[in-house]
Amino acid sequence: MKSSELSEGSMVPLDLGGTHLLIARIGGEVSAVSGTCTHEETDLGLGFMMEDRVVCPLHLSAFDLRSGEVLNPPATQPLQRFNVKIEGETIFVEV
Ligand code: FES
Repeated sequence: MKSSELSEGSMVPLDLGGTHLLIARIGGEVSAVSGTCTHEETDLGLGFMMEDRVVCPLHLSAFDLRSGEVLNPPATQPLQRFNVKIEGETIFVEV
Protein backbone atom coordinates (compact mmCIF):
# COMPACT_ATOMS: atom_id res chain seq x y z
CA MET A 1 0.00 0.00 0.00
CA LYS A 2 1.04 3.60 -0.43
CA SER A 3 2.55 5.22 2.64
CA SER A 4 0.41 8.32 2.13
CA GLU A 5 -2.75 6.18 2.55
CA LEU A 6 -1.84 5.51 6.20
CA SER A 7 -2.14 8.66 8.26
CA GLU A 8 -0.62 9.14 11.70
CA GLY A 9 -2.68 7.51 14.48
CA SER A 10 -4.67 5.30 12.12
CA MET A 11 -4.93 1.59 11.33
CA VAL A 12 -6.00 -0.12 8.12
CA PRO A 13 -7.12 -3.76 7.74
CA LEU A 14 -5.58 -5.57 4.78
CA ASP A 15 -5.64 -9.09 3.31
CA LEU A 16 -2.28 -10.12 1.93
CA GLY A 17 -1.39 -13.57 0.64
CA GLY A 18 -4.26 -15.15 2.59
CA THR A 19 -3.26 -13.41 5.82
CA HIS A 20 -5.51 -10.85 7.49
CA LEU A 21 -3.44 -7.93 8.81
CA LEU A 22 -3.71 -4.59 10.52
CA ILE A 23 -1.25 -1.94 9.40
CA ALA A 24 -0.86 1.03 11.76
CA ARG A 25 1.16 4.23 11.98
CA ILE A 26 1.97 5.33 15.54
CA GLY A 27 4.54 7.99 16.38
CA GLY A 28 5.64 7.98 12.76
CA GLU A 29 6.47 4.25 12.84
CA VAL A 30 4.56 1.77 10.67
CA SER A 31 3.80 -1.67 12.11
CA ALA A 32 1.88 -4.75 11.03
CA VAL A 33 0.18 -7.36 13.22
CA SER A 34 -2.37 -10.11 12.62
CA GLY A 35 -5.87 -8.72 12.20
CA THR A 36 -7.55 -11.72 13.83
CA CYS A 37 -8.24 -11.74 17.58
CA THR A 38 -6.46 -14.60 19.37
CA HIS A 39 -9.43 -15.09 21.69
CA GLU A 40 -12.19 -16.24 19.33
CA GLU A 41 -10.88 -15.21 15.91
CA THR A 42 -12.92 -12.05 15.48
CA ASP A 43 -11.90 -9.57 12.79
CA LEU A 44 -9.98 -6.83 14.61
CA GLY A 45 -10.49 -4.60 11.60
CA LEU A 46 -14.04 -4.19 12.94
CA GLY A 47 -12.64 -3.09 16.30
CA PHE A 48 -11.45 0.36 17.23
CA MET A 49 -8.10 1.99 17.76
CA MET A 50 -7.29 3.72 21.06
CA GLU A 51 -3.91 5.46 20.95
CA ASP A 52 -1.43 2.60 20.40
CA ARG A 53 -3.87 -0.30 20.79
CA VAL A 54 -6.65 -2.08 18.93
CA VAL A 55 -9.69 -3.17 20.93
CA CYS A 56 -11.61 -6.28 19.84
CA PRO A 57 -15.30 -5.53 19.14
CA LEU A 58 -16.52 -8.81 20.65
CA HIS A 59 -15.10 -9.12 24.20
CA LEU A 60 -12.87 -6.02 24.36
CA SER A 61 -9.44 -7.64 24.47
CA ALA A 62 -6.81 -5.04 23.67
CA PHE A 63 -3.54 -5.54 21.80
CA ASP A 64 -0.53 -3.28 21.28
CA LEU A 65 -0.48 -2.47 17.55
CA ARG A 66 3.33 -2.26 17.52
CA SER A 67 4.26 -5.43 19.41
CA GLY A 68 1.05 -7.50 19.29
CA GLU A 69 1.21 -7.82 23.11
CA VAL A 70 -2.05 -8.45 24.98
CA LEU A 71 -2.97 -5.37 27.04
CA ASN A 72 -6.42 -6.43 28.21
CA PRO A 73 -8.01 -9.91 28.62
CA PRO A 74 -9.80 -12.21 27.91
CA ALA A 75 -7.23 -12.90 25.14
CA THR A 76 -3.99 -14.36 26.50
CA GLN A 77 -1.99 -14.93 23.30
CA PRO A 78 -0.33 -11.99 21.50
CA LEU A 79 -0.99 -11.10 17.87
CA GLN A 80 1.61 -12.22 15.38
CA ARG A 81 3.87 -9.39 14.29
CA PHE A 82 5.14 -8.94 10.73
CA ASN A 83 8.22 -7.18 9.38
CA VAL A 84 7.57 -3.90 7.60
CA LYS A 85 9.77 -2.06 5.12
CA ILE A 86 9.09 1.33 3.54
CA GLU A 87 10.68 2.14 0.20
CA GLY A 88 9.83 5.53 -1.19
CA GLU A 89 6.05 5.80 -1.07
CA THR A 90 5.38 2.07 -0.70
CA ILE A 91 4.86 0.01 2.46
CA PHE A 92 5.96 -3.63 2.17
CA VAL A 93 4.92 -6.30 4.68
CA GLU A 94 6.66 -9.67 4.93
CA VAL A 95 4.01 -12.40 5.40
S1 FES B 1 -13.02 -12.53 20.21
FE1 FES B 1 -11.72 -10.86 20.66
S2 FES B 1 -11.86 -10.66 22.80
FE2 FES B 1 -13.10 -12.38 22.38
